[in-house]
Amino acid sequence: MVVPSRIGSLAARAIFLISSHRHQNTNKANYDEDTLTAARAVQGWYNGAEGIYDTTGWWNSANVLTTLTDWATYAGSNTGGIDVPGIIANTFKQAQLQVVTVQKTLSAAGMVSSKYLYEHVNPNIGKRGFDDFLNQFYDDEGWWALALIRSWDVTKNKEYLDMAESIFRDMQNGTDAICGGGSFWNKDRKYKNAITNELYLSVAASLANRVAGSKDKYLKIAQDQWAWFKRSGMINKDNLINDGLRMQEDGKCVNNGLQTWSYNQGVVLGGLVELSKATGGDQSYIAEAVAIGKAAVKALTFNETTGIIREIDRCEPNCGDDGLQFKGIFMRNLHYLYRAAPHPEFERAIIKNADSIWANNRNGQNQMGIDWRGPPNVGRGPTAGTHGSAMDVLVGAMGVVRQ
Ligand SMILES: *[C@@H]1O[C@H](CO)[C@@H](O)[C@H](O)[C@H]1NC(C)=O
Ligand SMILES: *[C@@H]1O[C@H](CO)[C@@H](O)[C@H](O)[C@H]1NC(C)=O
Repeated sequence: MVVPSRIGSLAARAIFLISSHRHQNTNKANYDEDTLTAARAVQGWYNGAEGIYDTTGWWNSANVLTTLTDWATYAGSNTGGIDVPGIIANTFKQAQLQVVTVQKTLSAAGMVSSKYLYEHVNPNIGKRGFDDFLNQFYDDEGWWALALIRSWDVTKNKEYLDMAESIFRDMQNGTDAICGGGSFWNKDRKYKNAITNELYLSVAASLANRVAGSKDKYLKIAQDQWAWFKRSGMINKDNLINDGLRMQEDGKCVNNGLQTWSYNQGVVLGGLVELSKATGGDQSYIAEAVAIGKAAVKALTFNETTGIIREIDRCEPNCGDDGLQFKGIFMRNLHYLYRAAPHPEFERAIIKNADSIWANNRNGQNQMGIDWRGPPNVGRGPTAGTHGSAMDVLVGAMGVVRQ
């Protein structure tokens, strides 16, 4: 990664002053242009030999790829020479060759942190780290399944959809009857958490909409998963979703009261939009998503005037390598929901944050940081994770102005 020079930042700041009010009329061309600039910047971190993004982790790279594919869906042929199908094909090949060991810890406060140990690509090693995009963590598998589903949307290359199905078969092994259903977080089978189960819902429902021959199978899995999720206790009285379940001595499982991370309010929204579509438009799923989406926007907006989404009470700006991407995942899925249910609260959240990010949160290389009010260099400074997360909001704005 190149460290921005002072002169570059100052020059860029002068441009910000001129451009900060451009978006008052939510001009489509501006969001298109800004997001293309952001896509160029994120590819500055792309490690072609490894197929993933430097400065961020394994599951995070799947999310950056998802952001890029969402952008490509809107950009169509106007990708400014960025070869998204080529990037997908390279990642599909090279990322699986990674020899990686992963360790994740969950702090008492409910903060996950992942440590990845990467070794050089060695295609000759028989048992490779993340062969077939599988590892010890069912949530990591879910992120890659969603990235490959979006990759299929962009390219219609069936290999990607087939791989998403094969990842999902492994994810199915994570489920059992403990807590009445649902999936474990990882293969140690100790913790059932929200994110893994939301990913399970979203992958199943997304496959139902794409794998014509298995529609009924995936639809039933997704419907059963949502029915279980609702009675699991993870959705609290404020319509926010806590981190996971605590298994009691008596065998019952209850909400563990850990943090209501923004991404836990996010993936479920996209999952329910896909589920509604798979049922031919059942609006009850959309209504459930809208209730969660509105509660989350309210809880994450710490200043009504600015409307900026923050996790200031949880971790911001020091959210570790994992937490720094949560808000973007939330906004990406809020945008999926907005397209199905264009509520003004959602539009406002997306546009206000997109405009603030663009006006206040870029360095001289157009790299975007964790605090959407800016400046870009707080916390660990821009990484592919913070940038990809902010780019999710810009892609969301492209979606809003196309509505
Ligand atoms: C997961 O399930 C599939 C299908 O039943 C099976 O082939 C595979 O070996 C299982 N994987 C693990 C790690 O248990
Ligand atoms: C909210 O943001 C506005 C505009 O920046 C600022 O004037 C106000 O003091 C902020 N309110 C709080 C409670 O921080």
